[in-house]
Amino acid sequence: MIPVNEPMLGKREMEYVTECVETGWVSSAGRFIEEFEKGWAAYCGRQYGIAVDNGSNALYLSVAALDLQPGDEVIMPTFTIISCALAVVYMGGVPVVVDCDPGTWNMNVDQVEAKITKRTKAIMPVHIYGHPVDMDPILEIAERHGLAVIEDAAEAHGAEYLSGRDTKDSAWRRCGSFGDFSCFSFFANKLITTGEGGMVLTDNAELATKARAMRNLSFGTKGNRFIHQEAGFNFRMTNLQAALGLAQVERFEEIVERKRWIGAEYNRRLSDLPQLQLPPNESWARNVYWMYGLVVSEETGFDADKFGQALMQRGVQTRPFFWGMHEQPVLQKKGLFKGESHPVAERIARQGLYLPTGLALTEEQLIEVCEVVHEVLA
Ligand SMILES: Cc1ncc(COP(=O)(O)O)c(C=O)c1O
Repeated sequence: MIPVNEPMLGKREMEYVTECVETGWVSSAGRFIEEFEKGWAAYCGRQYGIAVDNGSNALYLSVAALDLQPGDEVIMPTFTIISCALAVVYMGGVPVVVDCDPGTWNMNVDQVEAKITKRTKAIMPVHIYGHPVDMDPILEIAERHGLAVIEDAAEAHGAEYLSGRDTKDSAWRRCGSFGDFSCFSFFANKLITTGEGGMVLTDNAELATKARAMRNLSFGTKGNRFIHQEAGFNFRMTNLQAALGLAQVERFEEIVERKRWIGAEYNRRLSDLPQLQLPPNESWARNVYWMYGLVVSEETGFDADKFGQALMQRGVQTRPFFWGMHEQPVLQKKGLFKGESHPVAERIARQGLYLPTGLALTEEQLIEVCEVVHEVLA
């Protein structure tokens, strides 16, 4: 079977992890944490990095550090991972969702402004499957309405966005450099993996200090360390995890290049199939193809589930697309999204899946995947 993801770890990872074991620095202190934070923040063009135990908690920490109050609203795409909505719900806040853009599968930025109310506190754009959200309008709306921006770049390490594209000041910026906080995941299927792990990036010194404290139970800083002024969390990353992460930051250009090669090869070998919508690559974006997504036309008689089964029978593992937040029983039971319909997200949730895209995918495996896709759709 060709797995949907297989990570690729190297000698440097082994060397750094061995150093942790040999020196005993295996917990949440040690040189790799700071070096990983600094290295990744610098790559993304940010001032501060705060490493955490996973990407879901990176989002939770951001929302908490922005001091979200019960009833406060955060606008996000319905088509995303549940971590986005739960981060808000955990704080007593209200996730408010918009549909997707049918071309990019990212949040439809034209729907955002109409969702703003007196309770709106933040916008949470999510770069889906490695393709940037159109950030300029989001940042402009946020600024005009005094809203925070929490960028979820968990799937978009190294992706780039052309900001100010119609102006003489246009410039490519990396995902992870936008808004008050940017959040990453370093789960095993991400472009950088620490097994489990995440990071929050910011340019705001005050927010960085706050998030850093909250990551570590907000221990007292004046006098007795065990007298706490705030409700923090234990979201600490270990030095062992950071050792893995740093090794990959050091060869990150190679990782991005490999992902882009996978994306380009799939594009080349599948573009003759009109039954498939292939991943986007807008002129103002540089996709990193975190996962190579497909939307299969209803006319084939397949939905994502049946298509995935047919591929699996021929030895190709896939994963279905996200299921919209507005269709999540756990959120509906909380009284959220009553009567809401978001037709684009509903369609792609039912018709979309992604193909094997892990860094360890070989050219032979990729060719085989494409042959199997052709065979199933023939
Ligand atoms: C867009 C997005 N945000 C957040 C997360 C959460 O990251 P983690 O699995 O590390 O908790 C993921 C996980 O895949 C994700 O895809």
